[in-house]
Amino acid sequence: MSLIYRRRANQPSFTHVFNDYMGEIKPFVKRINKKHLLIPLVVLKSIEWSIYRWYKTPIRRFYGVKGNELIYMITKRCNERCAKCGIWKTPEKDSEHIDISIFINCLKTLHENLYQVTITGGEPLLFKNDVLTIAEESRKHDIQLITVTNGVLITEDFLEKYAKFKHILVVSIDTLEAEKWIQFRGNDTFEKVIKNIKVAKKYLGDNFQIQSVLASESASDIPKLKAFCKELKIKHVIQPYMDFGGVWNDAKIENSPIKEFSCAARKNICIYPNGDVVKCFDHRRIPLAKEPLGNIAKEDIIQILCKKRSTEVSKIMKTCDFSCKYMSCNVPEIVYN
Ligand SMILES: C[S@@+](CC[C@H](N)C(=O)[O-])C[C@H]1O[C@@H](n2cnc3c(N)ncnc32)[C@H](O)[C@@H]1O
Ligand code: SF4
Ligand code: SF4
Repeated sequence: MSLIYRRRANQPSFTHVFNDYMGEIKPFVKRINKKHLLIPLVVLKSIEWSIYRWYKTPIRRFYGVKGNELIYMITKRCNERCAKCGIWKTPEKDSEHIDISIFINCLKTLHENLYQVTITGGEPLLFKNDVLTIAEESRKHDIQLITVTNGVLITEDFLEKYAKFKHILVVSIDTLEAEKWIQFRGNDTFEKVIKNIKVAKKYLGDNFQIQSVLASESASDIPKLKAFCKELKIKHVIQPYMDFGGVWNDAKIENSPIKEFSCAARKNICIYPNGDVVKCFDHRRIPLAKEPLGNIAKEDIIQILCKKRSTEVSKIMKTCDFSCKYMSCNVPEIVYN
């Protein structure tokens, strides 16, 4: 495929360029504490953005710019059997699960580029000690960690240790009705999770959040979940239903408040349980990104990200336009404001 063909196929529009710029500048501005430096820093950042946008060297992004998110699918194993999700159906074998030291090396190598690390799965709390090791290393580098869990395995001992690092914990729930819960999760864990949510809020305060998936199956539950979170003063995030190999259906959203925007997934560096590296977990939709870009058990992460194919995939992602761009990890911060 020639470069000219790809440029035509993915020619960015003015809106894409504008959203790309704002998506980069807005979170940057939020991180500036010294307000008198705001204008000079924004000018410098704009110059950097222009260089990045128009002059593309393979290693352009890996010089101390805190613009990337490292997303670790720590495992595909899970203690729940959610109907919305098929990840639990293909748990990795022990030989397909990298040692935590390999991920920590990757984090250390990238730390200057990262504003956030996210741990997802499968169920991360099946590896509580590894989560705490990542929490400690992220805190050393002053990087925010978000751990997303189904909430079943939360313990006070874990919360006490996790709370010390001042990171965010997100519990996923999609209903407050015990009967529906069993259909949604495949297990009768309702009371346990609700109890754990209250304890987690006590330990973590504002660093505790709840996330719900909006599908036609859960649409009527969302207002009740919102009210529940409001009462407990817990931040509530809604994620639209996507194809994770589950059997739910999209919600019909009328008058969606979501505006058009470019997918922000190219800021992400995603790691599978076996160490494979991709730029977004929906990479199989992009022909050039079907195969992983490399594996952190075999190669250095910077080498992987500097490969020509990594750069080409990032370029294609700028104008990629599938529904997965609405996932919370792929949405530019500007859309939330
Ligand atoms: C795959 S789970 C892994 C972490 C943990 N097991 C949990 O459920 O929170 C990560 C997030 O994806 C959400 N999720 C699961 N299936 C989904 C789907 N089909 N579409 C969108 N989000 C989904 C979960 O609700 C959770 O908030
Ligand atoms: S959504 Fe989370 S808890 Fe449910 S099956 Fe998938 S990985 Fe497990
Ligand atoms: S739209 Fe989907 S496949 Fe395309 S870059 Fe974004 S997350 Fe990846």
